[in-house]
Amino acid sequence: MTAPALFQDEAPKTPQRQLKNRYDGRDKVTGKAKYSAEFPVKDITYGYIVQSTIPKGTLVSIDQTAAGKASGVLAVLTPFNAPKLPVASPQPPARRHITVLQEKDIFYNGQPIAVVVARSLPEAMHAATLLKITYKSQPAQLEFKGRLAEARPPKQPGREPADSKRGDIATSLSNSAVTLDVVYTTPIQNHNPMEPHATIAWWDGSKLNVYDATQYITGDRQTLARTFGIPVDDVRVQCPFVGGGFGSKGSTWSHVVLAAMAAKVVGKPVKLALERGQMFGPVGSRPTTAQNIKLGATADGKLLAIQHDVIVHTSLMEDFLEPSAMQTRLLYNSESNVTSHRMVEMNLGVGTYQRAPGEATGTIALECAMDELAHKLNIDPVQLRLINYAEKDHSKDRPWTEKSLRQCYTDAADRFGWSKRNPEPGQLREDNNLIGYGMATATYGANRSAASAVVRILPNGRAYIGCGTQDLGTGAYTVLAQACAQGLGIDPALVDVQLGDSNLPKAPVSGGSQSTASIGPAAAAAATQAKLKLFELAVNDSQSPLHGLQAGSLDTQDGKVFAKSSPNKSDTFTAILQRAGGQPIEATGSAEPGEDRTAYTAQSFGAVFAEVAVDIDTHMVQVRRIVATYDIGTLVNQKTGINQLQGGIVWGVSSALHEEAHIDPTHGRTVNETLAEYHVPVNADIGTIDVTVTGIPDTKFNPLGARGIGEIGITGAAAAIGNAIYNATGKRIRDYPITVDKIM
Ligand code: MOS
Repeated sequence: MTAPALFQDEAPKTPQRQLKNRYDGRDKVTGKAKYSAEFPVKDITYGYIVQSTIPKGTLVSIDQTAAGKASGVLAVLTPFNAPKLPVASPQPPARRHITVLQEKDIFYNGQPIAVVVARSLPEAMHAATLLKITYKSQPAQLEFKGRLAEARPPKQPGREPADSKRGDIATSLSNSAVTLDVVYTTPIQNHNPMEPHATIAWWDGSKLNVYDATQYITGDRQTLARTFGIPVDDVRVQCPFVGGGFGSKGSTWSHVVLAAMAAKVVGKPVKLALERGQMFGPVGSRPTTAQNIKLGATADGKLLAIQHDVIVHTSLMEDFLEPSAMQTRLLYNSESNVTSHRMVEMNLGVGTYQRAPGEATGTIALECAMDELAHKLNIDPVQLRLINYAEKDHSKDRPWTEKSLRQCYTDAADRFGWSKRNPEPGQLREDNNLIGYGMATATYGANRSAASAVVRILPNGRAYIGCGTQDLGTGAYTVLAQACAQGLGIDPALVDVQLGDSNLPKAPVSGGSQSTASIGPAAAAAATQAKLKLFELAVNDSQSPLHGLQAGSLDTQDGKVFAKSSPNKSDTFTAILQRAGGQPIEATGSAEPGEDRTAYTAQSFGAVFAEVAVDIDTHMVQVRRIVATYDIGTLVNQKTGINQLQGGIVWGVSSALHEEAHIDPTHGRTVNETLAEYHVPVNADIGTIDVTVTGIPDTKFNPLGARGIGEIGITGAAAAIGNAIYNATGKRIRDYPITVDKIM
């Protein structure tokens, strides 16, 4: 069932009623919210993953005699004794190649090669040290920048083609008065949500239960069912709270399957929680990139040519593309536009989605290159972007659903004080600091998928909504409470929300910034269906003031049903339900994207301005201020929405200055696999972040008028900072992150 017409076509009639605070805020700050590793499960045992210490080769043997006899040990699973799964590796269970003890080949240093199960975690960890592992090593590919010439096209087709071409780029470049040809590089990054991955698995006969830290309970369920060869209905995945995911929890990784496998072998529940160090390799990373940008423009700043050629690394297990040139196809208007993506194979864990996969790295190259071009042309960087403003999606030759990027530039520039910027680098000095201003455009596509929800109206005046989505900490609970309340016509504080259970109606992966845009309309559809059932009860009830009216002539507000023609005729939800026997009303509803998907391009935009202070002696960079305005349609909730955008910007600061995985060139292990060595910003690294939105509803995209906001915040931010560092120092650092040694 798709959403009824009201919710497909119309903007909400009344302003969205927002929850001022997060629905789940109190439970989180009081510790009542339980994360996947925290559930008390009777007879729990502990699994510990043993990882390969070589980057390439084969396992010859694993002698587990000593480990098997160690205190508390229940089982040691290795590729030599692990149960064979019906879906034979290396066939990826769900389009991913996960290593689940089905093969003896080693693809990277850190690959899971054994699981020790014991009655306590220390005993499991101790026994792991007693395993005698013999490998046959082979030379590994661990170099990226020196092997760019080996880059090849992706083997698996992506959602969009890897290459694109419009116009005659050679002619456009030769006709350009000013050209630019630069290479930007970005490092491998690893997701480090506060909550590392964790799974508790147990079998109830032939039925599998897991608590899993995941962005996708439905996907987990499908992958587990397929991997173990059991019906989907025999798997239940629960995950009421997630401590951040950022893309890494969107796939079902080895440890989830291994926890379930181990639970089957020992006949008891198994908890398998990854250590922080195990977050670097076995659960995906953002690939490193080398991006060549060529721009050509007329003397008055009109872009004639844009070429963006991207090379990323990929694992030897499967191809994963960080699609860094995608936004370059549509962000600016130019007569020629060419992009390509190639990959270099390396003996590393697989690449995966990490916050704004593609745009996060791609906007670094494109938006810094635009800044370089602006300097060459002696045109203000904002002006250069306005000259080349894309009035439509030129890559697909179709209109935008909604675009207010011009307003983003002017609003953010005004609040920032951009007019005070000196375009000449190195001119502004305060005490021992050089001060610089920089800006960039932010952009991210708008996604939406089919979703469903169940709504109950309760006789006590409250309501319930259940949806098989998950809240990564982003605000899904809050959004569902609001959407249900809005749909029913009650106070959002009266709504109880349940999510994070695969027994609930299906919702998509909380990835691609699509959750709110997908589950909001589903919640509205379910509420509409529940409301219709309530209307039927009222009009058929001889004791109701609404008796005998047409259900279609009724509406709701503040927990009352009333006749649209004479609002004095009304009946409360509780009175209607009490008279009908005191039972709740229940209805399910679904919503999915309409036909508009191919007629329009739904894309979000933003403008980010940064002020940095660079210490003249130490070259330490302080990001003093970020001012940004985003064009993301309706902001569904002020607090959770602005927080999401601010959080994305913090990631931008991280990408610009801090974050980078270092791979040991000999052994292939991530050297800095702790939060002490893998630098991410702390509060002291973050100055003022001032975020607003244009807030123009995008009702061509969905009935909420809201596009996603989870990922756009990171885009553009790192470029704005790099551009500000150039404005402060005159140094153009094209190798990210911009650490102090590079500024010297
Ligand atoms: Mo996001 S990287 O699609 O979870």
